[in-house]
Amino acid sequence: MFSRKIETALNQQVNAELYSSYLYLSMSAYFSEINLAGCAHWMRLQAQEELSHALKIYDCINERGGRAELSGIEAPPQKWESPTAVFKEVLLHEQKVTGLINQLVDLAISEKDHATNNFLQWFVAEQVEEEASANEVLQKMQLAAREGGLFILDQELAKRVLTPAA
Ligand code: FEO
Repeated sequence: MFSRKIETALNQQVNAELYSSYLYLSMSAYFSEINLAGCAHWMRLQAQEELSHALKIYDCINERGGRAELSGIEAPPQKWESPTAVFKEVLLHEQKVTGLINQLVDLAISEKDHATNNFLQWFVAEQVEEEASANEVLQKMQLAAREGGLFILDQELAKRVLTPAA
């Protein structure tokens, strides 16, 4: 069992993860609308991943004898200026989520709740990946917008395999 404070904070994080899922699904709809099927696919998978994050915390609350309390999910934006603007927002959003996870870890430490702290370490590592992958897509998109030829050449170079000396 954990403290009411931790239970409330974890429930708030379930809501934040569900909002992330909703936000990325809205971004996917935007990309579908402008016929960028690859970006729409990426965002749809991202939305599913966020749902799995919410469920991971939801399961943790139940497992520890708490009560998962589902609250209203804020409506996400519907429109963006450009595909690049979308990925800038993804990166900013992930940085914000990292801050939320860090606050949860701080709370678990102050409550001397080692089990919750241990559980949250998965999310600490996940946020490093989330920020890196959002940043990678953003950088590639900016390069493609600036220098489409260079972007395609880079994809070619990435395919090189080592040919051992005969
Ligand atoms: Fe659930 Fe993208 O962090």
